[in-house]
Amino acid sequence: MGNIPAHQTKGNTGFSTPQDITRRRLLDYLLGTSALATLAAIFYPIVRFMAPPHIVEAMQSSVVAAKVSELLPNSGKIFKFGSKPGLIIRTASGELKAFSAVCTHLDCIVQYRSDTKQIWCACHNGQYNLNGENIGGPPPRPLEQYPVNKRGDDIVVNRS
Ligand code: FES
Repeated sequence: MGNIPAHQTKGNTGFSTPQDITRRRLLDYLLGTSALATLAAIFYPIVRFMAPPHIVEAMQSSVVAAKVSELLPNSGKIFKFGSKPGLIIRTASGELKAFSAVCTHLDCIVQYRSDTKQIWCACHNGQYNLNGENIGGPPPRPLEQYPVNKRGDDIVVNRS
């Protein structure tokens, strides 16, 4: 071994030893997997952000919107009907009416105004009468109306 010139010893021969090949493969493997992990860490949140969420909407066919005793004449209350808001109204004469509370213009939430005895959308001054018909402002269509029943003290709203 003492006769081998210095330029022919390990590392200076220009040839790879089996040990070098194994190290090189290991380094290639580690670099490749870390590059993949980096790309996944960058793109996974972006893809998750862009993909629409899986919302399982419970098709609720009826809901207790309010108690008869809590809803005074000439008043209204917003209630949750599935994933959307609803509006229950007890008119001045005591009649119960229920509507979708989503304005047909640009989806703002409407409310009952006891001073005008109308349904009102604050976003663009949209107005509906107590039959849900659009009577003023920009709303293009009537509100969806729901059937209402009383069950004891419960006011039950159904999807038609
Ligand atoms: S969103 Fe209701 S009037 Fe525009």
